[in-house]
This record gives sequence, C-alpha cells and structure tokens, in this order.
Amino acid sequence: MDHFLYRNGVLHAEDVPLTDIAATVGTPFYCYSTATLTRHFRLFQEALAGMDHLICFAIKSLSNQAILRTLGNLGAGMDVVSEGEYRRAQAAGVPGARIVFSGVGKTRAEMAYALTHGIRQFNVESAEELRVLSEVASSLGAVAPITLRVNPDVDAKTHEKIATGRKEDKFGVPITHAREIYAEAARLPGIEVVGVDVHIGSQLTDLAPFEAAFTKIADLTRALRADGHTIRRLDLGGGLGIPYTRSNETPPLPTDYGAMIKRVLGDLDVEIEIEPGRLISGNAGVLVASVLYLKQGEGRDFLILDAAMNDLIRPAMYGAHHDIIPLQEAQAAAAPQPVDIVGPVCESGDTFAKARPMPALAPGDLVAFRSAGAYGAVMSSEYNTRPLIPEVLVKDDQYAVIRPRPSFDEIINRDKLPEWL
Ligand code: LLP
Repeated sequence: MDHFLYRNGVLHAEDVPLTDIAATVGTPFYCYSTATLTRHFRLFQEALAGMDHLICFAIKSLSNQAILRTLGNLGAGMDVVSEGEYRRAQAAGVPGARIVFSGVGKTRAEMAYALTHGIRQFNVESAEELRVLSEVASSLGAVAPITLRVNPDVDAKTHEKIATGRKEDKFGVPITHAREIYAEAARLPGIEVVGVDVHIGSQLTDLAPFEAAFTKIADLTRALRADGHTIRRLDLGGGLGIPYTRSNETPPLPTDYGAMIKRVLGDLDVEIEIEPGRLISGNAGVLVASVLYLKQGEGRDFLILDAAMNDLIRPAMYGAHHDIIPLQEAQAAAAPQPVDIVGPVCESGDTFAKARPMPALAPGDLVAFRSAGAYGAVMSSEYNTRPLIPEVLVKDDQYAVIRPRPSFDEIINRDKLPEWL
C-alpha cells in the first residue's frame, strides 16, 4: 500500500494534489511520500520485532538527504557503498555507529574516511580488500570491525543485471573459501571480525533463494564459531522485491520475510542487520511528466512525454515495467488503446513502454510513473544536456522541493575551457 491515490478525481500524494505540485514546480519531477516511506520502514521493524536488529536503508536506491533524515529519525541505519554516500548519511545526521560500508571496490581513501568518522562495520568482499583495510586501519591506530560478504552460490532468480549471489558474479568471497579467509582476518592486526554478510540480488519475488542462502549462512556461522571466531552479527543484505504491476504481482511481504529469518536464524543468538532499499523507497515515489505530443506513426502511435531515459533509466536498462497513469481519474477510466510511450532523447532506447494500453491523452495532460522512488532519481543523468529533474517530498498536506531543478547556466558553467581555446 502506498499514499498515491485518486481523491476528488485527481491523483494525490498524501493530501497534496500532484497537479498543484506540477503547477508550481513544473514537469517532469519526482515526488516522494513521507507516510509511505515511514510505513515501509515500520513493516520491517515489525517483521523483525523480538530479534535484536538494525534496518540499514540501502541509500543507493534513493539518497536525497531529506529522505535519509526522515528514515534516520525513525532509527534507521544506512548501507553505503561510497564515500559520497557515507557523507550524505553523515550530512543527514546519521551517526557512524549506524552506517555499514558495502561494495566490492572500496578505496584506501574511503576506508580512511569511514574509520576516522565512525563506522559500524565494513562488509569486506575479498581477501585482498581485507589486507588493505587492515593496513589502512593500523596506519590510523584503529581497528576495523568487519563482516566478510560471502557468496553462497545461490541463484536469486531475478534480472541478470541485478543477481549477485552466483559464483560467477563479482561479489563476495566464495563460501567454500570463507573459513580460510576468516582465519586470515583473525590474524590481521587492523581487523576485528564481528559477523557474516550476504546479499544475493535485488527485486527477488520469491523467498526460496533467500532461505537457501540464509541456511548456508547459518551453517557457516556454526562452523566459524567452532573455529573460534566471534560471530555476533549477520548482515542479510537487501533484495526483497516490490509489485511493479499492480494487477498481478504479489511478492512476499516483509512479515513473511521476517518470519523466515526467525525460523532459519532465530536460534543463533545473533543481531540481524538487513539492507532494504527498493521495498522502502520504490513505491514511495512517482515521476510526474507531461504529454508533449501524440504522434501517429506507421502502424503505431507514440505518446511523447517531457520525461526521458535520462530521468528514469530502468525501462531502457533492464526492460523494467512501470505503471503509467493519468493524474486525472476521469481520463484513467477511458477505453485504452495501445501506444508506445517515449521521451525526447535522441535514441530509440528512450522508450518507456511499447504497445502499452493507455486511455486517450492530449498534449498538456499529466501522467505519473508509479514505483519510481527506487533507482529513479539516483540513476538519472544530464544526457542530452537535460537538467536533473526536481525532487519533491510530501508530508500530509505540505510539500517541499528537496532538490531544485538546476538552471542551464549552472550546468553549462561547470565546463571549463582550456587556456589554449
Ligand atoms: N545491499 C547491497 C549490498 C546491494 O548491492 C543492494 C542493491 C542492496 C542492499 C539493496 O537492494 P534492494 O533492497 O534495493 O533490492 N538499479 C537496479 C537495482 C540495483 C541493486 C543494487 N544493489 C534497479 O533499478 O533495479
């Protein structure tokens, strides 16, 4: 459930008509709902109630500071994958003790920054990284708390580009070598082992791959404890999927996920960390765009919007589906006809949907892309020198622009001409 509903014939974000925001901010823009973010975060809290746990929001999915502050105020930790993300979490007021640092290619500078400013743990992805981290920590007179991200060789049965837990994927250390790498970790002066980490992929719509991976992690935890390691924390990553098509998708709920975690890991006496991104932010955001043209082609019609692949790349990059609905409820009720929904960018890949049944729309009409909160704004670019679109946050009947649209001068003046020109 989210808080984007038709009221009085117009799509609202909570108590604010999206048409009001469009009139003041202009299109296209992203709009997020505080109540939805809060609700999704609480669903995870309730699902893990009774277990010692920390929910670390994967800020790669939606990293605006206003969002991080909203979730941080609810007690969320943050999962970061770069110094930039660490600094965002910090700027949003989240203490280092609630920040975990993931990622397969951390630099020495990033390690040093996090060690200096405070870190809950590094999720280390290779023996090579472990040695570098030990050196960096020792040079600072610090000891780095770590988990090793283990690759359990489980197929998450999700999109090829976002599956991360098979042995051919670049992530983690093979579970078959984990014990020897833990043994090395225990000998390194700058390292303190605190737990085990696993993340097998994103947009999982079945609990079975999670359960297969967590079962392997439970066995590994027992083996590592028998080897003499202190395993007090399990980081289970993120990955729980969301319904992108309202009509026919029913992915497992956080409650089911939490019950499974309790069943598989409940007797281990460990603190559980999870790193959900999409489930918290995905359906907490929409992208609002205007219809520019209705173009009649050979055997197909095109609905040309003012939003493009640079604003929301998921359809072009993963063939992802986003429901697209009119802001005016009366239009939504009209008989649908198939159209190709496209943006103005100069490549055919700039297509949001092909032969999508849509009600008749006219230039100037407004539409919303649903489920656009996760991996939307954060993956946008200025391709075709199109300014990054604004982000707006709604809370009840209030809204605020949390990232303004840059001016063309701001964009163009970032370029520096060399002296010889
Ligand atoms: N933890 C780690 C280590 C991750 O790599 C990810 C996502 C997450 C947590 C959060 O996963 P989530 O709960 O959001 O599924 N751009 C793609 C998704 C990439 C996911 C990358 N890693 C998309 O638009 O579908």
